[in-house]
Amino acid sequence: MEPHRQDWKIATALSLGRYHISEDYGFLLPNPLKELPDHYRPWMEIAKKLPQLIESHQLQAQVDKMPLLDCQLLKGYREQRLARLVLSFIAMGYVWQEGETQPREVLPRNLAMPFVEVSRMLGLPPILVHSDMVLTNWTKKNPQGNLETIIAFPGGESLRGFILVTALVEKAAVPGIKAVVQAVNAILQPSQDALLQALQDLSLSIQDMTRALGQMHDYVDPDIFYAVIRVFLSGWKDNPAMPTGLKYEGVSEEPLQYSGGSAAQSTVLHVFDEFLGVRHGKESADFLHRMRDYMPPSHKAFIEEVRAAPALRDFILSSGHDHFLAAYNRCLEVLVELRSYHITIVTKYLITAAARAKGRRLNQPPGLAELPQACRGTGGTAVLTFLKSVRDKTLETILHPRG
Ligand code: HEM
Repeated sequence: MEPHRQDWKIATALSLGRYHISEDYGFLLPNPLKELPDHYRPWMEIAKKLPQLIESHQLQAQVDKMPLLDCQLLKGYREQRLARLVLSFIAMGYVWQEGETQPREVLPRNLAMPFVEVSRMLGLPPILVHSDMVLTNWTKKNPQGNLETIIAFPGGESLRGFILVTALVEKAAVPGIKAVVQAVNAILQPSQDALLQALQDLSLSIQDMTRALGQMHDYVDPDIFYAVIRVFLSGWKDNPAMPTGLKYEGVSEEPLQYSGGSAAQSTVLHVFDEFLGVRHGKESADFLHRMRDYMPPSHKAFIEEVRAAPALRDFILSSGHDHFLAAYNRCLEVLVELRSYHITIVTKYLITAAARAKGRRLNQPPGLAELPQACRGTGGTAVLTFLKSVRDKTLETILHPRG
């Protein structure tokens, strides 16, 4: 049942700790584990060599020989998160080892059963999600704080860059998440100074996220993103290459369908939208709401808590103060800028790269050409239509000063 805004009158102040959100790292898991207990060595040995095993077409054979281990020896939340990271990467590699036109449609029981078991423990669907790929997949390489991934797919520096730049965007959002909590508490108190400060902190944080996103250009090659990274993130829902989904052996007789990994599964913008009162069109909202089922349940609960909190927009409208209106609008303007910038990234890494890949295939002898999903039909257009609608609804939320 959804909490109601009135309940906030008697509620205690909103805090991060209750939702597995860190003061320092936000939704990123603080200092994720890199090793599992020795019992799980067969998983770790495969996971650590995943890029080589996939590139040499040996992963599927190695996984088929893997012993069936259960998840009962995992000690606590952090080991469960690492186990899911490891099994989700192995599963994506297993399905897509031979490319996007020749997926494996059955996940063998020795992989499917523990993957589903640990997913149930964590309340996540049994497919790679943003919280595996990014939130659980970073470590400090040296005391200077340079970052490294824990588990990788093929794609070398570009893959590392894609994961770690996304982690930096999450890190840049941390002051913004704290600002949302401060603002909600400031409305409850009420404290006008604290609210104004929180709105300013939020807009600065969103601008930092846009700057961090810009590092994608420095580290990620669009052709490698398109031809390699994108493939390993593909899911088995609405994917013509796997029309019925994936059979999880030992788990379900029927194939199951799940969407692939995407930063649409990041909790950050869902929280900002709820806080700022951005309401998306039906189709976009349906997709974005579905993505909440691909988030850790405590993060999803935080979005719902922010949604149930006293409405900022109503407060701004009733306050009649121009400086509140300006600070609120500024948050929306920089959120529009972030979303517009993200659209230019998607155009470069998906749409333009897909067109280049198609051009290259047309120059190949017939028979060798593969036809990736994004080149068929109107996949690219649909993505841009969605992203523009989400951006434009953010723009429409801006309030106009009373004349
Ligand atoms: C090469 C880099 C990137 C590409 C190609 C890309 C692509 C996409 C695509 C195709 C979508 C549409 C939904 C879907 O198909 O899942 C999407 C949505 C989204 N992406 Fe990205 N993305 C990239 C990087 C990022 C980063 C670093 C972030 C920030 C953490 C991000 C945040 C989002 C969000 C929040 C959405 C949902 C739409 C919205 O709320 O505006 N993306 N992205």
